Amino acid sequence: MKVPVLKIEHMNISFTQYDRGMRQVELPTIRDLNVEVHEGEIVAVVGSSGSGKSLLAHGVMGVLPYNASMGGKIVYRGEELTADRIARLRGNEIVLVPQSLSYLNPFAKVGYQIRKGRKDAQTRQRLDDIFKRYDLKKEVEDLYPFELSGGMNRRVLIATAMIENPRLVIADEPTPGLDLKVAKRAMRHFRELADMGAAVLIITHDLELALETVDRIAVFYAGTTIEEAGVGDFEKEETLRHPYTKALWRAMPKNGFQFIPGSQPYVKNMPEGCPFMPRCGQCTEACRGQIPYKEIRGGRVRCLYAE
Ligand SMILES: Nc1ncnc2c1ncn2[C@@H]1O[C@H](COP(=O)(O)OP(=O)(O)OP(=O)(O)O)[C@@H](O)[C@H]1O
Ligand SMILES: [Mg+2]
Repeated sequence: MKVPVLKIEHMNISFTQYDRGMRQVELPTIRDLNVEVHEGEIVAVVGSSGSGKSLLAHGVMGVLPYNASMGGKIVYRGEELTADRIARLRGNEIVLVPQSLSYLNPFAKVGYQIRKGRKDAQTRQRLDDIFKRYDLKKEVEDLYPFELSGGMNRRVLIATAMIENPRLVIADEPTPGLDLKVAKRAMRHFRELADMGAAVLIITHDLELALETVDRIAVFYAGTTIEEAGVGDFEKEETLRHPYTKALWRAMPKNGFQFIPGSQPYVKNMPEGCPFMPRCGQCTEACRGQIPYKEIRGGRVRCLYAE
């Protein structure tokens, strides 16, 4: 197999915080996270709120908050992605569609922001194409973000990344606020980029929409990857490997909207061993120990009882 465009190995991210007694505490928010994305491939990262999806994106882009520290290894096209290297590639070869609309500059007209001030004919042409694709009228170029709806600003954020010629795209929740037609169009746009050779990592809550477009799914739970599965594995519950992935499958509208009780543990109360244990019908005493990340049927899973 070819060298992956992005390979994240044993990523750890923790925050230093001060508790009430001004004691310094370390919060291990991402633990031993592994993901790979290849050329021509779209991988979706799914997982509940607070599972560490945006942190993963910010860790790769080198834009973590000041109180965060990161360990593990990020490899981009066969070489380690050091702080210097990401600073050089960020915004051109490696782009991020951020989750928050607050990344737009409130004081710059959107056309200027998307072009990043460039006026050459090629940039002009790419902007016109993207505006057409996302149903943005020409006049929008001269407006400021506050004059646009949330959905329009979301499209501006996507356009800002897609006007480049990226080899790696990380899109953090690119579709909320978009109507289904535009959301599907955005997903098709990611597909086209991948088909032209880019590697795409899409972070999303919308498993159903992801399954229509992507190649593989990485499932996050409480700061780690608990399963990597091909899209085909989601056709039936039995072909999935982890009890949490199976629960996500059963929660999909077409599979009956069945939700499991409970919620993901918070970093401060993380159980030893498997983080899903308190909600799992299959768990035993052995789940309190180390859980290896193992390969099964072409996918990977972190569960002692997966087969
Ligand atoms: N600056 C920070 N200091 C301390 N903890 C933080 C900080 N930023 C994020 N966290 C914690 O890291 C965890 C993961 O956050 P993250 O934003 O990556 O979640 P997410 O999976 O993207 O969620 P969502 O689906 O809501 O976007 C959360 O529990 C959050 O509280
Ligand atoms: Mg997020």
